[in-house]
Amino acid sequence: MRKVIVIEHPLIQHKLTLIRDKNTGPKEFRELVDEVSTLMAYEVTRDLPLQEVEIETPIQRGKFKVIAGKNLGIVPILRAGLGMLDGVLNLIPTAKVGHVGLYRDPETLEAIEYYCKMPIDVAERDLIIVDPMLATGGSASMAIQFVKRENPRSIKFMCLIAAPEGIDRLKQDHPDVNIFTAAIDHKLNDHAYIVPGLGDAGDRLYGTK
Ligand code: PRP
Ligand code: URA
Repeated sequence: MRKVIVIEHPLIQHKLTLIRDKNTGPKEFRELVDEVSTLMAYEVTRDLPLQEVEIETPIQRGKFKVIAGKNLGIVPILRAGLGMLDGVLNLIPTAKVGHVGLYRDPETLEAIEYYCKMPIDVAERDLIIVDPMLATGGSASMAIQFVKRENPRSIKFMCLIAAPEGIDRLKQDHPDVNIFTAAIDHKLNDHAYIVPGLGDAGDRLYGTK
């Protein structure tokens, strides 16, 4: 069953407030998104299965836990999702990376695909799709739809800020995908920006506006 998990750790909430602040420039914005993504990845990977291996400490031989298999994949939605990629890879350096390229048509607000490339063994992988913003949910829903064509083992969606409208859309379109977010904001404005949100994530990451 689909779940929405709001990660309320104080470090994440503190850094998210700095990210939201309009006086935070692109350099600091990128660093903070990177840090929050690492902290969130800690929570998103909480249910990874473990297995026991036998090793020898300097004192004694014994059985200890390691992560079972290394079959994760990270899929940033271009372009703002790229801002979260390294933060997640810091914690899961053996993950493979797929990319989905989408942008919202400013008139229709519909998501338009321009790129999709998954790791060759995606069918053996549990994927985490990352994008800072879940607004109308159009981009995330379409990205998940494209990724599902490749039959991954499972999909989670991780964002910094979600709008109720985007959560409802994913609930309807992809009830099997759990959503991890650092905040659920109030609503969308007339231009489908999240209120209060953080503005345009791509522009703030890359200084394009
Ligand atoms: C932003 C954001 C999401 C999308 C969310 O991307 O990074 O991908 O909007 O909006 P939605 O939930 O209403 O679809 P944008 O289209 O601005 O593209 P960019 O990342 O290339 O700047
Ligand atoms: N995309 C963004 O970058 N910000 C929003 O608030 C909504 C969509």
